[in-house]
Amino acid sequence: MLSRCLIFRFTLATICAAAAARPTQAGEPSLSSAPTSASSTTKALPHSNRGAGVNAPAAERGYRRLTTKAYLPADFDDEVFSNIWEVWEAAAREKAAKATPAQRRWMAFARYGLTALPSGSPAQYVVDGQGQWTMNCFACHQGRIAGQTISGLPNSTFALATLTEEVRATKLRMEKPLSRMDIGSLYMPLGHTRGTTNAVMFGVVLMNFRDAELNVHTDRGPPPMVHHDLDAPPWWNYRTKKQLYYDGFVPKGHRALMQFLMVRENGPEKFREWEDDYRDIEAWIEALRPPKYPFAIDRELAAAGRPIFNQHCASCHGTYGDEGAVANYPGRVVSIAKVGTDPVRLRALTPVHRSSYAASWFNEFGRQPVATEPAGYVAPPLSGIWASAPYLHNGSVPTLWHLLHAEARPAVWRRLPEGREQEIEGYDQKKVGVAIDSFQELPEQARSLRQRREYFDTRQPGKSAAGHTFPETLAEDEKRAVLEYLKTL
Ligand code: HEC
Ligand code: HEC
Repeated sequence: MLSRCLIFRFTLATICAAAAARPTQAGEPSLSSAPTSASSTTKALPHSNRGAGVNAPAAERGYRRLTTKAYLPADFDDEVFSNIWEVWEAAAREKAAKATPAQRRWMAFARYGLTALPSGSPAQYVVDGQGQWTMNCFACHQGRIAGQTISGLPNSTFALATLTEEVRATKLRMEKPLSRMDIGSLYMPLGHTRGTTNAVMFGVVLMNFRDAELNVHTDRGPPPMVHHDLDAPPWWNYRTKKQLYYDGFVPKGHRALMQFLMVRENGPEKFREWEDDYRDIEAWIEALRPPKYPFAIDRELAAAGRPIFNQHCASCHGTYGDEGAVANYPGRVVSIAKVGTDPVRLRALTPVHRSSYAASWFNEFGRQPVATEPAGYVAPPLSGIWASAPYLHNGSVPTLWHLLHAEARPAVWRRLPEGREQEIEGYDQKKVGVAIDSFQELPEQARSLRQRREYFDTRQPGKSAAGHTFPETLAEDEKRAVLEYLKTL
């Protein structure tokens, strides 16, 4: 327990106290029984890495709210989660049947892309005293890469659609009532590829039933929707940005973080009541720092890459100091014609939606400037970029090498399965990013929806891996140097 707690430092007192106070429940693996690949080495905030001006008590409260307070109706309960393996396909079911309850729980964590807190609870759901599971922000904003669980890292293995389908099937078998999510997901796609979600359309549909004060109006018809999947941006860049989202249309602020809470059960009074919680959550997000590259770096090659980066990339992505910290970040929006990446996300958010957001409580009723017709996508800060694979807003490019070699990007790819016994699973140190198999077509053996979601098919709408051909002007040895330099950011 102690050694794991030391990893936390920043949140040490809170988390370890909570973990110590909470007895291990039946069927819940204790830390010592947790296999390493699902272990809870969350990178929190070492004191030395915290910048000046960070409000530490607020940030600590924010972390506690994120991990212990349910802001939405519960999705399912412990009983459903412990029986869910019974609806898996035959091979997985047979394996689960032979496993202990604790092993089965870890199989389910791996299948759905969940990571564990030190208590053994999932980071992605708040589990209350009654065993009710409620999704939280970490569902999409805390993930694993290269054998580490990192807060604020996009959860690129979250299998929301598969989890929801299998929860529904389990509830039906157990004759338990379905939640709004179980039913809503029959009409609204949650995501077509593991690790990406239709999150933006969730926001559009929920905002459609609200007025500027956030009162709920159930008599309205559904809004026009263009479903598409996105990879989430890493939270550690929040502090560097002034505008949020891939097209930078929203000014940053704690109210902007509350859009995810717009389910019908949460009336306008809830938003006002929870505002302080979200000030604290914002403080925690602000305090996050990018994770350091955990493998060897060829320092000489990286140093050679720096001036090349500064010449060819910095005008959009900014410049970085000796320790990789952001020196100057321009926050440039690059027109869609110029960047040439998939345009679906940009267009799916209509000026009508953007204006209703602008006029609402979230934006202090029009107080802040909102871009109702952004020209393209923001060139993001590249801090900790080694960790946030796959790349581009739709997560279509598996590694930084592929980002630098547009012509070699795979049409269809799938991440290599995580080997639990391996120390550093699923990370490609050579190409820097997710280790993959690539394909020309979706393989025939991918028959079920669940299996298909394991493949990223760039030919599907909203999933193109085209564009961002700026690195094409570089010679191969220059690309190699830039790739090495990117590891230092
Ligand atoms: C179902 C997945 C999902 C959940 C749950 C979720 N987000 Fe996100 N989040 C996303 C995606 C996808 C984006 C990118 C949206 C875009 O730019 O179009 C995003 C963007 C953001 C951004 C903007 C970051 C940037 O750099 O521009 C912030 C901040 C954020 N989310 C905070 C939160 C908070 C706080 C919660 C919980 C209250 C939350 N999110 C819950 C998927 C999710
Ligand atoms: C003209 C501006 C511009 C230039 C020049 C440029 N980029 Fe980008 N870059 C962008 C934009 C815009 C995006 C986001 C595109 C998207 O997500 O669809 C991006 C995305 C990226 C990403 C993916 C970020 C993520 O979080 O997924 C990486 C990595 C990157 N660029 C590296 C580079 C490198 C290296 C160079 C120089 C060789 C470079 N870029 C040159 C505008 C630029």
